[in-house]
Amino acid sequence: MNNTQPIGFIDSGVGGLTVIKEAMKQLPNENMIYLGDTARCPYGPRPAEQVVQYTWEMTRFLMKQNIKMLVIACNTATAVALEEINQALPIPVIGVIASGTRAAVKATKSQQIGIIGTIGTVNSKSYETAIMSRVASANVFSLACPKFVPLVESNQTHSPIAKKIVAETLRPLQNKKIDTLILGCTHYPLLRPIIQNVMGKDVQLVDSGAETISEVSMLLDYFNIVSLNTPKPGKLACYTTGSTKMFDEIANKWLERTDVKSQHIQLGEM
Ligand code: DGL
Repeated sequence: MNNTQPIGFIDSGVGGLTVIKEAMKQLPNENMIYLGDTARCPYGPRPAEQVVQYTWEMTRFLMKQNIKMLVIACNTATAVALEEINQALPIPVIGVIASGTRAAVKATKSQQIGIIGTIGTVNSKSYETAIMSRVASANVFSLACPKFVPLVESNQTHSPIAKKIVAETLRPLQNKKIDTLILGCTHYPLLRPIIQNVMGKDVQLVDSGAETISEVSMLLDYFNIVSLNTPKPGKLACYTTGSTKMFDEIANKWLERTDVKSQHIQLGEM
């Protein structure tokens, strides 16, 4: 079956664009809709119930756009809302934690695995639980990095201050002898060169969001909903609850395009 309905992607801000970038590479025929709740970002420090509520608001908006699959391109939202939303929707729903876990378990040789994410993701212990259920002998070191998301949202990913903050924040992980580090927040791949530099070249970084796209591709086949023979590239429509100017600047730079023009929308009671 040829299904040109879009795939929906949601995140608290611009982080899920790291997942979109991989989707554009692996699934060039697909039409996509992205929604970043930039006005309420970060989700990381918010109580779980609030993150669930905001994730539902984003989901409802995209369901009205007739999406054929939903990718929760946010670890914080995946940790607390995936199960509930997956059970309630009539379309396939995918989060980013399971794929990141699988990739890390495959990559590690020493079974010393680090995970960095938001306060919400780290407190949920979702990665730890998922890793330990696969490799009981693994040692998992989790670290919340609440200062990283504001750097990304303010387009400061290459600034000297970003280098300083990343180096200081990751210090507790440096003597843990990890060989694999999960970027357990979709914003963090935008800081990847700095993170790699601080951790050293022997530590393999796992981009959980990008890993998710292989799963998306598999599920499109499985449910027989692939978009075929459409003009490449598929269309990308972006929505943000925050500043379209900042969103477009970050999106065009990150996606190496010049034509991303987001639309502003309002969610909930803002
Ligand atoms: N990009 C998000 C994640 O993967 C959340 C960042 C935030 O809003 O704190 O967790």
